[in-house]
Amino acid sequence: MLGPADWDRLRSAAQEVMSRAYAPYSKFTVGAAGLVNDGRIVAGCNVENASYGLTLCAECGLVADLHASGGGRLVAVCCVGPDGEPLSPCGRCRQLLHEHGGPEMQIETKAGIRLMTDLLPGAFGPDDLQEQR
Ligand code: THU
Repeated sequence: MLGPADWDRLRSAAQEVMSRAYAPYSKFTVGAAGLVNDGRIVAGCNVENASYGLTLCAECGLVADLHASGGGRLVAVCCVGPDGEPLSPCGRCRQLLHEHGGPEMQIETKAGIRLMTDLLPGAFGPDDLQEQR
């Protein structure tokens, strides 16, 4: 179980990477940090594009960092907006995070610590593909 110090560390990592976001269009900088099951912290920031729809959310960067730095499972995630406060991941990113943390992954939200399954109930995931293999 994560303690308050772990969440502080995760939020600080999210705030730090948020300061490096590339968001010249929306000016809405986002940072996301995740604790991996081996103790690593991985992180990402949003990267926008002149072709607006190609924007990469901060969570995309986090997931890329997870695999680029050795893989593993996400145990806990904190995403912050420009004010440094916890931000609710968008729908697409909930699906993205679910793939790598599963339903029991913890997420810090404005309303406190929640489980992935509360943010994305009844999610479609890797197990749903088993029957077809
Ligand atoms: N954004 C994220 O990076 N993650 C989210 O979960 C929500 C939205 C970014 C995308 C865009 O660059 C900016 O926030 C405004 O939508």
